[in-house]
Amino acid sequence: LSPKPLAGRRLLITAGPTFEAIDPVRGITNLSSGKMGFAIARAAREAGADVTLVAGPVHLPTPRGVTRVDVRSAQQMLDAVMPRAPLHDLFVATAAVADWRPASLSEHKIKKDGKKVAPSFELAENPDILAAVARLPAAQRPFCVGFAAESEKLEQHAREKLARKGVPLIVGNLGPATFGRDDNALLLVDAEHSRPLPEDGRACDKQTLARALVAEIARRLA
Ligand code: C5P
Repeated sequence: LSPKPLAGRRLLITAGPTFEAIDPVRGITNLSSGKMGFAIARAAREAGADVTLVAGPVHLPTPRGVTRVDVRSAQQMLDAVMPRAPLHDLFVATAAVADWRPASLSEHKIKKDGKKVAPSFELAENPDILAAVARLPAAQRPFCVGFAAESEKLEQHAREKLARKGVPLIVGNLGPATFGRDDNALLLVDAEHSRPLPEDGRACDKQTLARALVAEIARRLA
């Protein structure tokens, strides 16, 4: 195997959570730290790829040599990804995109009304960024890799995602409560097989895991 298996390849990757504003001071988000995506971006750069990282709001330094685009909402993430996707060989979606956003944004901070009536919000569904990239015409479509963070039935849900999103590979988080942690184990699920990474399924640090995943993706791309 070449020491730089992604030399000459271009990778686009999303990472972190998204933040969906309710009013100027509040919003809906989730506990993704972005660590796995940033570790993959770094590993892919080490493997020779030209890497663009589209990051939601996270507190992480940009890996050396990686081009970073910061976004906040799912819509902004989609707007950053779609024009760039056709210019890339690989698209890895690690972002924990908020499934819903408030249907309307309040221009001013929502105040307590003094009558002890809590406000209620209508939600609108966010665009599925991975599915949108996977629907690009073949000539413009990068090789797409999705992630799955599930609390149960990981393989079954990962397999459903393969079909629903139309992607060749879904990477499941095997570790419990992986958000924010430094270690994890993965389950690689494609149309034919599933197997753990590392092979013994025991959690290891995310950077080591990211290097192994990048090597695996490079093999599939070759
Ligand atoms: O649909 P679900 O959130 O379970 O799928 C997870 C995978 O899809 C991840 O790869 C995630 O980055 C991606 N995704 C996305 N846009 C969304 C929701 C999920 O790109 N709106």
